[in-house]
Amino acid sequence: MQLSSFAISIAIANIALVSADASNYWKAFTSQIDPKNITVPSIPATTSLNPTTECTYYNPDESLIVINATEWPSIWDVATSNNMDTSPEFLALYDSLDWANAPNISVRKLTSDGGLDFTGYDSSADPDCWWSASVCVHPKLADVSADIINCPEPETWGLTYDDGPNCSHNAFYDYLQEKKLTASMFYIGSNVLDWPYGAMRGVLDGHHIASHTWSHHYTTTLTNKEVLAEFYYTQKAIKLATGLTPRYWRPPYGDIDDRVRWIATQLGLTAVIWNLDTDDWAAGVTTTIEAVKQTYDDYVEMGTNGTFATSGNIVLTHEINNNTMDLAIDYLPKILSAYKQVIDVATCYNISYPYFEDIEWTNVLNASTAAAAASSVASSSVAASGSSSASAAAGTVTAAGAQINQSATSGASQLLPSALFTLVLAAVALL
Ligand SMILES: *[C@@H]1O[C@H](CO)[C@@H](O)[C@H](O)[C@H]1NC(C)=O
Ligand SMILES: *[C@@H]1O[C@H](CO)[C@@H](O)[C@H](O)[C@H]1NC(C)=O
Ligand SMILES: *[C@@H]1O[C@H](CO)[C@@H](O)[C@H](O)[C@H]1NC(C)=O
Ligand SMILES: *[C@@H]1O[C@H](CO)[C@@H](O)[C@H](O)[C@H]1NC(C)=O
Ligand SMILES: *[C@@H]1O[C@H](CO)[C@@H](O)[C@H](O)[C@H]1NC(C)=O
Ligand SMILES: *[C@@H]1O[C@H](CO)[C@@H](O)[C@H](O)[C@H]1NC(C)=O
Ligand SMILES: *[C@@H]1O[C@H](CO)[C@@H](O)[C@H](O)[C@H]1NC(C)=O
Ligand SMILES: *[C@@H]1O[C@H](CO)[C@@H](O)[C@H](O)[C@H]1NC(C)=O
Ligand SMILES: *[C@@H]1O[C@H](CO)[C@@H](O)[C@H](O)[C@H]1NC(C)=O
Ligand SMILES: [Zn+2]
Repeated sequence: MQLSSFAISIAIANIALVSADASNYWKAFTSQIDPKNITVPSIPATTSLNPTTECTYYNPDESLIVINATEWPSIWDVATSNNMDTSPEFLALYDSLDWANAPNISVRKLTSDGGLDFTGYDSSADPDCWWSASVCVHPKLADVSADIINCPEPETWGLTYDDGPNCSHNAFYDYLQEKKLTASMFYIGSNVLDWPYGAMRGVLDGHHIASHTWSHHYTTTLTNKEVLAEFYYTQKAIKLATGLTPRYWRPPYGDIDDRVRWIATQLGLTAVIWNLDTDDWAAGVTTTIEAVKQTYDDYVEMGTNGTFATSGNIVLTHEINNNTMDLAIDYLPKILSAYKQVIDVATCYNISYPYFEDIEWTNVLNASTAAAAASSVASSSVAASGSSSASAAAGTVTAAGAQINQSATSGASQLLPSALFTLVLAAVALL
């Protein structure tokens, strides 16, 4: 009895996934969280400003989030771990992709000290648009989403924080809230399962939530199956904790090439890189806090000395630890004076639908404040345009915008038989 109903539910799950197409993979995710009506449970870990108290593990309230560890990859291990590469849902997704169209680009190797091994790779020609080799951001492969690297408007600081959510970050999130700042937050799937209330708070505070993979490996060193699992289970975790499935992601260490871009594109994910790197993670680790302050000082100066007179930046910063968060709090007032705008990436690109769900980006999802926020944010319906033939050239403001238009639909355009193409475009246009 139990066995057969289990078999039936697996069969239904498979049919739901296989009969649809991979661009609908996110529809099978479940969540009890309404992203427009989040209340973060008031427990010491979410309210205290004492790092020890904040970092006390909690079991999430089961009416909000149920985590069954047997159904997830191991925390901080590659997302194929814990047999997740053979779960029916993952296999259904894997099998629905047209791997014959995937580029035949080698899986990279690590050196003995854990860095990337460039042996045998022609970094100057960079045939695979491997960012780590040449800072390449204009894919050489057709039909993949080009990376976003800077906010297009002049004297604009694109505010991004990587590696959350985590414990002991309440003071930092309070500060951002007090300054009415929203950032693009690139969340690690493993951290989302460890600290789901942190992810809920990110959405409640109006931040733009995006993916930063499950286990923070160099993605070009992972097999196709591993890369797919890193994306898939992070999407699933963010959905579980926030009710939202991101359309944007950031490769750990910026490590991306056209093979990884192709897999990301199949899942409707576009990469967000940066054009300024504070190296803040190194403060107190491999360099001094003073050295990172000098970098911040330079980037502040660039806000007024003409560097960003015609287009803005996206800056790599982290919420990892007290050093990185204190540096952020120290410098944000100076950044706010030096730049005309300090905004998250969804806002700087007028991305109306940064998630798959039918929820328009208004900066603040909080239903009671959304209307007010919407009036201060351009609401051009980027994802809803239905344009699938946007110019592939990137590098200018216009072309980068066109790429975003394309990214909202390209997953569908590559996965479907042409007969279904028009239908799905229509469906995508309603998202
Ligand atoms: C918001 O959530 C609360 C429970 O947390 C619920 O009582 C209330 O009805 C919800 N409001 C809306 C508009 O869904
Ligand atoms: C956890 O998931 C496994 C596999 O789906 C299932 O067999 C088990 O009953 C679940 N445990 C709980 C407590 O729900
Ligand atoms: C992929 O490239 C390798 C060499 O890098 C080659 O041995 C292999 O045959 C190629 N596979 C396909 C399907 O073209
Ligand atoms: C950093 O740690 C100090 C001492 O515990 C604390 O006062 C401060 O609020 C922390 N900063 C952040 C951003 O959490
Ligand atoms: C959400 O709305 C409630 C009710 O108006 C308000 O108390 C709360 O501060 C708002 N949260 C944010 C992040 O704006
Ligand atoms: C602006 O400031 C930066 C950081 O100090 C410096 O590297 C750059 O050369 C300056 N640019 C101009 C146009 O003065
Ligand atoms: C998050 O916090 C946990 C526990 O303090 C720590 O082990 C982990 O490395 C942190 N993750 C990041 C990305 O900082
Ligand atoms: C976003 O919208 C604003 C207001 O309509 C406009 O000025 C700006 O150029 C747009 N930015 C992009 C990147 O499309
Ligand atoms: C998106 O596409 C529509 C229709 O093709 C176009 O009008 C709009 O300007 C595009 N948006 C951006 C940001 O390029
Ligand atoms: Zn990172």
